[in-house]
Amino acid sequence: MIKIKPYMAVSIFSLIVLPVFAAENTIDNLLQEYQAAGAAQGNAQRGEVLWNKTFNGNKPYAQRSCKTCHSSNVKNHGKHIRTGKTIKPLAPSVNPTSLVKSKNIEKWFKRNCKWTIGKECSAQQKADILIFLKQQ
Ligand code: HEC
Repeated sequence: MIKIKPYMAVSIFSLIVLPVFAAENTIDNLLQEYQAAGAAQGNAQRGEVLWNKTFNGNKPYAQRSCKTCHSSNVKNHGKHIRTGKTIKPLAPSVNPTSLVKSKNIEKWFKRNCKWTIGKECSAQQKADILIFLKQQ
């Protein structure tokens, strides 16, 4: 019989319970950072509009939007327009590994906003999109 020793209980807690809090915290911490950078509270509707908006880019990808790779329903898998690689759904409700690391979120915001919109997203745009995605 294995007896649960206190140090085991602590490990089990850190391995199973903490990551769940971490995911929630990641988004909330980022939203706080965006507000500190001057953004108002995020607005999911504005985020959804931006998500679906089409921007002009250089050929062969003259029409670009977040949907171009992620699809309009973020509960579905996406497909990278250039590499053809499958992208996991961004919706946390169907993909628990989505939106859990602020470093990744910031990296992809930077790269994807530049490619799609032609410039980095503002703190306000990021707050709006993050709230929208969080609710999916
Ligand atoms: C050219 C293809 C492409 C386009 C267009 C694109 N993305 Fe992405 N995006 C990716 C890829 C690839 C990943 C990484 C997915 C992974 O690691 O599973 C990603 C990841 C992300 C993530 C990070 C998810 C996480 O869990 O950390 C966010 C946020 C994101 N994209 C937002 C956007 C937004 C907002 C737009 C539109 C402005 C956009 N993306 C447009 C390809 C794209």
